[in-house]
Amino acid sequence: MVTILGIESSCDDTSAAVISDGVVRSNVVASQLVHERYGGVVPELASRAHQQNIIPVVHDALKQAGIAKEDLSAIAFTRGPGLMGSLLVGTSFAKGFSSALDVPMIEVNHLQAHVLAHFIKADENDCEQPKFPFLCLLVSGGNSQIVLVKSFREMEIVGQTIDDAAGEAFDKCAKVMGLAYPGGVVVDRLAKSGDAERFKFSKPHLPGYDYSFSGLKTSFLYFLRDELKNDADFIGKNREDLCASLQKTIVDILMDKLYRAAKDLKIKEIALAGGVSANSGLRTALQAYSERYAWKIHIPKLAYTTDNAAMVAITGYYKYLDGEFCGKEVMPYARVGI
Ligand code: KG4
Repeated sequence: MVTILGIESSCDDTSAAVISDGVVRSNVVASQLVHERYGGVVPELASRAHQQNIIPVVHDALKQAGIAKEDLSAIAFTRGPGLMGSLLVGTSFAKGFSSALDVPMIEVNHLQAHVLAHFIKADENDCEQPKFPFLCLLVSGGNSQIVLVKSFREMEIVGQTIDDAAGEAFDKCAKVMGLAYPGGVVVDRLAKSGDAERFKFSKPHLPGYDYSFSGLKTSFLYFLRDELKNDADFIGKNREDLCASLQKTIVDILMDKLYRAAKDLKIKEIALAGGVSANSGLRTALQAYSERYAWKIHIPKLAYTTDNAAMVAITGYYKYLDGEFCGKEVMPYARVGI
């Protein structure tokens, strides 16, 4: 049996998970609440919190999996992209732990891990995994990409944002409305009781499969500024409709390019990944497209949409099978493609 310990510390979630032969045995996440009052992740506070969390989180992951550390075949860790200080904590821990146990280390690309989260098996009989090649819409706080996934190792970006990520659009517009951080979740909740057709915001007109969200953010900001001049309580009175209309605009932008890419590349196997894939409007839209265009869709479990170590462990598992290990000299990288 191949048992991998995955470590994730790229941003503000400290996570450790155990996967045996592709089946998840534990996935422990310690989210850092310290950032809430700042309305965004504070890198220095994130690295300090990772340092405090990493040992208890790994301990819990091993305990919940019911395995001894000596049973581990390898340690997989997120090498990047992410916040350098945060990545350093996970990378250093992985180096120390793999030296102590004398097991190999496997470096994992965080973006690839989001995509490969679809291969985490709940149990031995779980056979819901996508078939290659498939398209994955990877949408998070830092990324908005359409990825053509040809195999576990071969991934090609066919379209991506030229400015803000979809999650940033959610979070920044939410901040303008005075909503709590991270705004995406709050917008999603409020949108459920709002009228999505009430307000119209600008949509980009980019050729190809690339995205842009900075124009939407500006149009949202200017719209509110003008309305607030007439009515100081405009946001309070229209919060739900604003959230529903904003969410619909973001989802329409995302789905439009995804549909075009799927049509042109003749791919009907479509997956979602990343934090924004938790969005209920996006999930409903994908479902509707699947019925209309006979897509076979793959929507990750909520626990695997945001940052988690199970996705790192599953990526590590497939690299382990290919014998792809790394040396102790590896350093994290803050910026890197898929
Ligand atoms: O993948 P992720 O956990 O990590 C980063 O990229 O940092 O994604 C976080 C992003 C945030 O922008 C958050 O607002 C967004 O995912 N998000 C959502 C929802 N849940 C998380 N956006 C819209 N609707 C949601 N339900």
